[in-house]
Amino acid sequence: MLGLVFTVVPLFHAGSTVMAADAPAPATVAAPAPTPAMDPAKMRERGQILALSCSGCHGTDGKSSSIMPSIYGKTTGYIESALLDFKSGARMSTVMGRHAKGYTPEEIHLIAEYFGNLSKKKN
Ligand code: HEC
Repeated sequence: MLGLVFTVVPLFHAGSTVMAADAPAPATVAAPAPTPAMDPAKMRERGQILALSCSGCHGTDGKSSSIMPSIYGKTTGYIESALLDFKSGARMSTVMGRHAKGYTPEEIHLIAEYFGNLSKKKN
């Protein structure tokens, strides 16, 4: 009996294990444009989560301690248009183009708001 449970369950979830932790609903269909229905707190939280992927290079809170440029102190508008330009290729880059291509314009907006608000708060 136990053997059955342990073999069937992982197989059933195979393919969705990576997203399962933070997906609120079964990730079977493409996200149906979540932005309009989302409340502001949820959107801020999503921006913060998405922004985690930036800290490896740009430092915690966007304060880089390496050769990478700091993004702390930059406005939402600046960060958003920089990311959109990297994504489209309008702005030359080594890594940012590839990184930015992984996000939708809505996600880029949430990430930019997160960093923009962060800088505003502490100034
Ligand atoms: C793998 C390392 C890496 C990651 C991850 C990364 N960046 Fe960058 N970022 C760079 C580098 C390097 C540059 C300089 C442009 C280039 O060559 O790509 C840069 C440039 C930028 C700039 C332009 C800064 C300026 O002064 O104009 C912004 C804005 C930016 N990144 C935002 C982000 C955001 C937001 C994320 C997360 C979604 C992120 N980056 C993730 C390495 C990274």
